[in-house]
Amino acid sequence: MSLVCFPFKEEDVAVVLRNLECAASHPAVTGILCVGYSRGETWCAIENAKPLLEKSCNVRVVLIQQKRYGNALRGGKGDGMNTALGYFLEHPEYTRIHFYDADIVSFSGEWITKAEKQADLGYDVVRHYFPRSSTDAMITWFVTKVGFALLWPRTVLPEIEQPLGGELLLTKRAVEVLFNDHRVRAQSDWGIDTLYTFVAAQNGLSLSEVYISEGKIHALYGGLRDLRTMLVECFSAIQSLKNENVPVGGIHRMEAAKSVPEVVKQKVGYDIEKTLKLLKSNWTPRQRELLHQHFDSALVKGLLNASEWPCWSFADEDCWIGAYQKFLENFEKGDDDWEELLFKVWVCRVLNHTVRNVLRGYDAAMGSLRDFVWDVIQKSSTQQFKLGSFPALHSLASG
Ligand code: DGY
Repeated sequence: MSLVCFPFKEEDVAVVLRNLECAASHPAVTGILCVGYSRGETWCAIENAKPLLEKSCNVRVVLIQQKRYGNALRGGKGDGMNTALGYFLEHPEYTRIHFYDADIVSFSGEWITKAEKQADLGYDVVRHYFPRSSTDAMITWFVTKVGFALLWPRTVLPEIEQPLGGELLLTKRAVEVLFNDHRVRAQSDWGIDTLYTFVAAQNGLSLSEVYISEGKIHALYGGLRDLRTMLVECFSAIQSLKNENVPVGGIHRMEAAKSVPEVVKQKVGYDIEKTLKLLKSNWTPRQRELLHQHFDSALVKGLLNASEWPCWSFADEDCWIGAYQKFLENFEKGDDDWEELLFKVWVCRVLNHTVRNVLRGYDAAMGSLRDFVWDVIQKSSTQQFKLGSFPALHSLASG
């Protein structure tokens, strides 16, 4: 008896209704839960469609507005997903919950079937993963996977293909672990995916990742500015966990990927011209001070040059990993100068990747991302980074 949750804001109504119907007609599904950020047009469209959907598919369709669980952080995706977990636990007739973004054009019943089959094998968590463009997933690669590789190199965490993915199945056991964790309930913003992934691994939940070869076709980003809030919240989520330990290893199964569709390979994930302008904007004297105070001279020189004329060659992999450690130690969320510095250094890293790796073709670009994470895992496991003040790394050194 599975419940399928679609968190939504204002979306393309036709796409949402098609996805609801698709999930409602699946034989494993007995309930649909739509969690709205607010009561707008999409809400009304679902409300109107609900009676017919319930009757024709013989499922319960519930529409609720997201609750406020985390009081200290911005109310966003985290509150939405946690609202669904709360509802699920109050309804013991359901044994599994699925999450899917409401705006996915390529969604099909097959996504549900694939996840259900893995849960039937006993996995606690099933994640869907997708072929993605080599300029997409820039937070996933440079913030989440690199952070996991740096802080917990011998665990399952850096091996998880799409740790920020919002398409997943959780069994009752997994929901209990997650929802009873106060850190999860407090993470009301974009950091929620990091917390779900992290807390599941820390508690030794088994994970299977299933591959969706047609990809996730959904609304695209403009300049990288659109991702600033997500970047800050995802980085800050990792930073909040930096002193935690995670058991080595973990049960992790992964379906092999297939050849990537041309449409995904050829997609440029962000608007480069809009992005170039960002390097010059929003500078303050304090950002320059923080730069000089905390970062290596090559980064300081490079970023200050970029404040005058777009440049990014300094922001190679070594520069990023050095900067990442400084941000882990000193970054202050809510401080606009720190947030802007993180954003600018990340923008340079993404531009550097685009020009150095993406121009060499899709396979070379994806290879460079994988090699980078692999290299960080290797170096971090063998203590080749300065340890800084992260207990997880210190415990590796001693044992
Ligand atoms: C990511 O990095 O995965 C975000 O979804 C932005 O693409």
